[in-house]
This record gives sequence, C-alpha cells and structure tokens, in this order.
Amino acid sequence: MAYEDRRAFAESLDRDDVLARFREQFYFPQVRNGHAPVYLCGNSLGLQPKLAGAYVREELDNWARLAVDGHFRSDRPWLSYHRHATAGFAALTGARPLEVVAMNTLTVNLHVLMASFYRPTTGRYKILIESQAFPSDRYAAASQLRTHGFDPAEGIIEWTPRNGCLCVEDLASLIEHEGAGIALLLLPGVQYYTGQVLDMPAVCRLGREAGCRVGLDLAHAVGNVKLALHDWAPDFAAWCTYKYLNAGPGAIAGAFVHEQHCTPGNLDQLHGWWGHDEATRFEMRKTFTPAAGAELWQMSNPPILSLAPVIASLQLFREAGMDALIRKADSLTGYLAWLIDRRFAGRVEIITPSDARGCQLSLVVRDSAVAPKTLFDRLCELNVIGDWREPDVIRVAPAPLYNSYADVFEFADRLERALALP
Ligand SMILES: Cc1ncc(COP(=O)(O)O)c(C=O)c1O
Repeated sequence: MAYEDRRAFAESLDRDDVLARFREQFYFPQVRNGHAPVYLCGNSLGLQPKLAGAYVREELDNWARLAVDGHFRSDRPWLSYHRHATAGFAALTGARPLEVVAMNTLTVNLHVLMASFYRPTTGRYKILIESQAFPSDRYAAASQLRTHGFDPAEGIIEWTPRNGCLCVEDLASLIEHEGAGIALLLLPGVQYYTGQVLDMPAVCRLGREAGCRVGLDLAHAVGNVKLALHDWAPDFAAWCTYKYLNAGPGAIAGAFVHEQHCTPGNLDQLHGWWGHDEATRFEMRKTFTPAAGAELWQMSNPPILSLAPVIASLQLFREAGMDALIRKADSLTGYLAWLIDRRFAGRVEIITPSDARGCQLSLVVRDSAVAPKTLFDRLCELNVIGDWREPDVIRVAPAPLYNSYADVFEFADRLERALALP
C-alpha cells in the first residue's frame, strides 16, 4: 500500500477499516497532562473489552443466586466452564479442539507441560533456549534441570541472534552439533524483545528430526500472528491471555498438547481431580481415570472469575476473525514502520525484522541529543503508552482490534515532539 504522511490520510484509512467498530468495545486509559492516550501496549497488557465486566458480573451473580449449584445449573455451568475457551483457542492457534485447554498461568503451564515432556536421561538432558529468552522461561528451564539433578550452566544451550535476528541456519547447526544431547527445545513464537516472528515450522521440524521434544512459548504470538500448531506439530505450547488476547492481568492461560500425545497412557502427567474424566469425577474414586485430550493436564477446578474475561475476549476475536485482524495488523504496523523510517531515519531505528514481524515494533534511539530512557519518559508524559525493555528498547504495538491509523499517526507526531524537547 502507498502510505502518506498526513493525518487526513490516516483518518481515511480508519473510515475504510472494516474492523474500526471494535474500538468502541474497549476501555481506553485516562487522559494525562491534557493528552488523550495513544495506547500501543497491547503486546504487554491488552485493553479491557467492555464485555469482560458483563461476563464477570454474570458469574458473580450466579455465585450469589445459585451458590454451589452454579457448578451444574447456570447458563454456563462451572463444571465445564473452561470449554467455552476451547473453540476460540483452537481457532487462534490452528489446533484441534482436543489439543487445547484453558488452565493456570503461563509459567505454571510451562512447568506442568515440562513435567511430561522434559524427561532427561544422562545422555540427553540439555534444554535449548534462545539467548535473550524471557527471564521466566530461562528460570523455568534452569529449575527443571536442577530438579532433575543437572547443572543449568552446562544443561542450557543458547541460540544466539546474528545481527539481531535468530537465524534458523544457526539453530540447525547448533542442533547438528549438540542434537543428541538435547532433550527439549523451549522457544518463543515471537521474541519478546525484538518482536521477531520465529520460523516456527522450521523450529518444530529441526527439533523433531533430531529426536528432541519441542515446546513453544506463544505469549507474544497468540492473537498476533497466524499459527498452525497441529500441522507444525510442536509437542506442546503455552500462552498467556493478557497481551493480545485482552483478558486482563493474570487471566487464565492456554495450553496445547499435540494430538499424538493425547492418548491416555502415552505420557506421565502431574494429576489432579480436574484431569480426571468428567463423567466419573464426582464418584470420588481412588483410581484416576484420565480425561481426553489436553484437558488431562488440568489439575484444579479453574478460577471462574479469571476465566470469564477470557471467554468474553474470545467472543470478540471470533466476531472480528483472525484473518481480518492479521490483514489490518500488517497494514497498521506497516504504516507505523513507514512513518518512523520517513520521519526519524538515523534517529530512531526499528530493530524488528521487516520480513518477520507481527504487530510489534522494537525501537532503538540513535539520536545522540537525547538519552533513550529520557525519550521514553517524555513519551509517557505525552500519554503515549508503549513500554521500555532494558537495556535500550522502546516497544510499540498497534493492536488491530482497537488501534486506529490515527493512533499511529498521533504516535509519530508525539515522538517528533518528544525528540524536539530541550
Ligand atoms: C515470553 C513470556 N514468557 C513468559 C512470561 C511470564 O508470564 P506469566 O507471568 O503469566 O507466567 C511472559 C510475561 O510477560 C512473557 O512475555
């Protein structure tokens, strides 16, 4: 698309935007210092859908009216409440419904799934992560190694970026040299710091060919980029729902277990009563009868009030459609990249690879007249909400469900003002 650096142009794109109506279904943060918010932080915490409150209130009402009967007799009985997320999760991740479940939170899910899929032996015990892995993933991998009696200093292998990018060729050569000793590849779908979308099919294929298990952390990928988990066939994946999925701070997360592992008896899991077959769960038997599919990995009865916003949010995704969202994201983030290159060349550099990005752009400030963190603080004063990631990146991510082209244009204007301040 041929872009133009004019507000009227941005407004004309908004008028033609088939998804524009979704914006009014979200709460935007408050005015600050007289400035309306420019919220570009959906990669960190998505905005609250207005529908979320209605779904939470509905369950508070059910609890008040029905008390314990809410488990069986409300419109959406709590016994199977998590299943209202199944179709939405499956659609967003390209999975079969059997392969996904809403449960726990992200790091907990990584551990729960590693309990099944990280089964080291003395010969094959290493875990491959990327060198800039999100700290929680690194801590989780290191603690899994320690729990099994291995030293993380030896047991963690790092895939290091080249010129800022994680290259599949480098992964292939790491696996070629170390593959026989690697038990698990634990990698992101989208790198949180740079915004690079990894070649997930290649990651899964390389891991599989070398006999390693593959687990994906899709925190920054779900609701952002197209996923086809069933076909790519990682062994497992997990994601949070508070970023692009807009389900609120600490909302219930998602997990994927590939169908090939969904036959009970194939693998060991950590069991709890919610992983027991629902039909006989309340017979309180001493023996465990496994539920079918990824639900087998559930342990506790889910926190309904933290799951309600997930269900609300998935309804909006269903209405908007992921293909339309990705089309808009390409053009919205494309417009942002174009404006930054046009106005700030040499002063602000986009480190996100242009051929492997979703919504997020990671910006590094090269302008010697202003310290990067100072520029970020100035943007905050102008009520631009992105985020700062140590050591030197400002992340901004227009979300196609609620951001407009006018937001993107306004961001460029405020960035210009922030750079010009004395
Ligand atoms: C890539 C990635 N992994 C893991 C986490 C940790 O998530 P949680 O606190 O929900 O376990 C985050 C949180 O932002 C993340 O971005």
